[in-house]
Amino acid sequence: MSITTEDERIGMQQASDAVAITLRKMREYAKPGISTKELDDYGGELLAQMGARSAPKLSYDFPGYTCIGVNEVVAHGVPSADKILKEGDLVNIDVSAELNGYWADNGGSFVLGEDIHGHGKLVEASKEILKKAISNIKGGVRISEIGRLIETEARKAGYTVIKNLTGHGVGRSLHEEPHEIANYCDRYNTTRFRKNSVVAIETFISTRSTIAETQADEWTLTGNKGGFVAQHEHTIMVTGGEPVIFTAQNGIWD
Ligand code: CO
Ligand code: CO
Repeated sequence: MSITTEDERIGMQQASDAVAITLRKMREYAKPGISTKELDDYGGELLAQMGARSAPKLSYDFPGYTCIGVNEVVAHGVPSADKILKEGDLVNIDVSAELNGYWADNGGSFVLGEDIHGHGKLVEASKEILKKAISNIKGGVRISEIGRLIETEARKAGYTVIKNLTGHGVGRSLHEEPHEIANYCDRYNTTRFRKNSVVAIETFISTRSTIAETQADEWTLTGNKGGFVAQHEHTIMVTGGEPVIFTAQNGIWD
């Protein structure tokens, strides 16, 4: 969406606060021994307390309030009572929701407890790349240029990017124009970021894979060449200078 009134700006901020606070509290709640279902139920309660409704449930009838991916899962991890979190797991939580007709989206990967498997470097790279990408977005910048920046930074750090998962416009629904804000330079995408538009920018930084493939449950995505993926996502408003980060409260950069 494009923000044209103060009411729209406030509405977007409130929806963004709901998903950002939920993401932050879920990350704090996560601990070894609990299931991803318990973690998701907690997230669902937080959203409900703030009057927000799970976007993946509303939009896709997703079997969970949030997406929780552990280790080899790239995205759309289905919360499960059988999936018990362990020390050193690479965990990704993605929270998107609707509040009063406004939709916001955010996510982040982190290492649970002590980093016994050495996933920390990948997580840090993904965070830094998102920071750099967002700081380079303003009205008039080509979407493909930001994709080039993300891929170049990933390569410099020794990583690949997932090419078939992207950031996207957001605001009046979960996914809207521009539909694909890729993590690489898509030369066929001549679209530019527009001032006052609301977009969700997300990294998909991988140790090996370049394509996310759907598993038999028809939800879970894993990498075509295995390895691990870190994702970090903010909902922002494009301006003529530094973007406004609507989901800043999620603390993914802290
Ligand atoms: Co998301
Ligand atoms: Co998104």
